[in-house]
Amino acid sequence: MIDTIDIIHRDHMNMERVLSVMNRVAEGLGRADGVERSLGLLASIVYYIRLYPERCHHPKEERYLFKVLARRDEGADDLIRELKSQHAEGKRQIARLDLAVKAYDRTREDLTTLRRVVDDYAVFQRRHMDLEESELLPLARKGLADDDWSEVDQAFARDADPLFNENMEAGFRVLFERITCDEAGGARPF
Ligand SMILES: [Fe+2]
Ligand SMILES: [Fe+2]
Repeated sequence: MIDTIDIIHRDHMNMERVLSVMNRVAEGLGRADGVERSLGLLASIVYYIRLYPERCHHPKEERYLFKVLARRDEGADDLIRELKSQHAEGKRQIARLDLAVKAYDRTREDLTTLRRVVDDYAVFQRRHMDLEESELLPLARKGLADDDWSEVDQAFARDADPLFNENMEAGFRVLFERITCDEAGGARPF
């Protein structure tokens, strides 16, 4: 049985894994060899965030979970409005991150700006996920009926994560290896 809350929670944990690597790669940039690899990782991260969190995770939250919760609990209106506005802001922030990575790749100057944009993005996304974990999911657990869940669960069962999945897209292999390597605390291959 598909459980939407489990999927959302797992997606958030995976996003945290990606953000942690993004922070570390940005910190190491300019201090170590392998600038090309680091920039490649940052580009993969931007691509992944656009492909899955932006294109699948957030839209499904809005189209299914927020919609059903709004029907069941008028008191959730303010929270839903805030989360939708964060989703819209997230699109602007990922565009800003994309531009910052490309600008540094082109010029190899102003690493400070790139690091600041990376940090801003990670802080923003962590705050967004915290709000969903601490307020949205408990309200949904309390307010939704079984029928609501079957509608929402069907939607969340679609679309496999292209990075954290047995059938991972080939282009994500280097990023995935870096994530698991960092988590194992071992020597990094780059
Ligand atoms: Fe969200
Ligand atoms: Fe979320």
